[in-house]
Amino acid sequence: MALFVTAPASAGTTLGASAAEKGRYFGTAVAAYKLSENAYTTILNREFNMVTPENEMKIDATEPQQGRFSYASSEQIVNHARSRGMQVRGHTLAWHGQQPGWMQSMEGTALRTAMLNHITQVATHFKGQIYSWDVVNEAFADGNSGGRRDSNLQRTGNDWIEAAFRAARAADPGAKLCYNDYNTDNWTWAKTQGVYNMVRDFKARGVPIDCVGFQSHFNNDSPYASNYRTTLSSFAALGVDVQITELDIQGASADTYRRVVEDCLAVARCNGITVWGIRDSDSWRASQTPLLFNSNGSKKPAYDAVLAALNNGTTPPTTAPPTSVPPTTAPPTTAPPTTPPPGQGGCTATVTVNQWTGGFVANVRVTAGSSALNGWTVTITLPSGATVTNSWSANSSGTTGTTNWTNVSYNGRVGAGQSTEFGFQGTGTVGSPSPTCAAS
Ligand code: G3I
Repeated sequence: MALFVTAPASAGTTLGASAAEKGRYFGTAVAAYKLSENAYTTILNREFNMVTPENEMKIDATEPQQGRFSYASSEQIVNHARSRGMQVRGHTLAWHGQQPGWMQSMEGTALRTAMLNHITQVATHFKGQIYSWDVVNEAFADGNSGGRRDSNLQRTGNDWIEAAFRAARAADPGAKLCYNDYNTDNWTWAKTQGVYNMVRDFKARGVPIDCVGFQSHFNNDSPYASNYRTTLSSFAALGVDVQITELDIQGASADTYRRVVEDCLAVARCNGITVWGIRDSDSWRASQTPLLFNSNGSKKPAYDAVLAALNNGTTPPTTAPPTSVPPTTAPPTTAPPTTPPPGQGGCTATVTVNQWTGGFVANVRVTAGSSALNGWTVTITLPSGATVTNSWSANSSGTTGTTNWTNVSYNGRVGAGQSTEFGFQGTGTVGSPSPTCAAS
């Protein structure tokens, strides 16, 4: 995505920079209380361009007493991330877990009202600062039923999930809205199929869902399966983005990490990958040593495998540049090889629209043709009555009628065949625009 700024180090040598070159992000879960630890923030700031608060945006943290909202630790993470060009995944607005005591003892209409108020308040508080929200977390049952998990939220009525999504959309129309769950990675599992059927139904009925989060906590009981890519692509084919939201792998097999990255890169709508912690010692399952960094902060073989996979199998050079004086022979006078100039291969643009009564969010994907782009302009004609009110990752010539969208400083360069994204939101009805793309 164009939104994913490259980390300060040069492209191809950090997880975030390499993912950004592929139009994706690489994120981690972050605990606010660790932000004062130098060893922790050094890795965080160097490697990642997406951050998920590990516990600080959960219901018990943000509304510890009913109607009294508390944002100190979540804001600490959001500010740390955004001030360094990282983006934020919000986790989570509605969940049976980590409910504050007052909510745990609630049922029925009172709980439904409290849940919707919580979503409205928290999503409004962080409006414009969240890349995607895990609106609802872990609502499906494990095992073979393929149905919903019993919980006080589920007992308020089966429509609680769609009610949650509608409230979140109304509060922050610019955030992608995700359903997030675990044990939904294996395509053959009943739970995966249960979630798939819900998302298909939501898309058919216009419930505002934009993405599905696959937690991907892989371990001996729930191992990585070779049909993972089928799972990601099957959900994407429903018209939603997919995101790997809490990745960790028991034992941190480098080969399994590589396969997960390759699976995401193979699915155009896989936006990015978040690992659930930085060092093994930061993991909720520390004894399984499932992460990319050792407890002392050194890179594990799994790190190298992930970076190489993000760079399409190319390991960036780790040797220092030569320090000897270069030879002083005259430069060759022959003409340089004739690689095609950037932009000659053209570009294409596609737009994905989420429309609701009175408003819309449009995400536009710009894809380079057979040669790299140095810059691009996408032209989109808006129907009368549609007005752009906000946009990201592109400059616009106007807000109505025929609009020209040009790259910003960090997303003009797009490798041959690679993509970047920008987006805008507005009022009115946008229909199904047919964008055109010009390379520069
Ligand atoms: O902060 C208190 C501390 O004051 C207290 O002394 C200590 C005693 O137990 O508990 C501390 O809180 C713990 C908290 O993590 C912060 O470390 C909680 O007990 C503990 O339950 C909580 O665990 C979190 C878990 O969610 C709870 O559901 C993990 O950190 C967090 O990584 C984990 O994340 C979940 C995702 O949200 C959803 N998917 C699964 C994933 C892994 O379980």
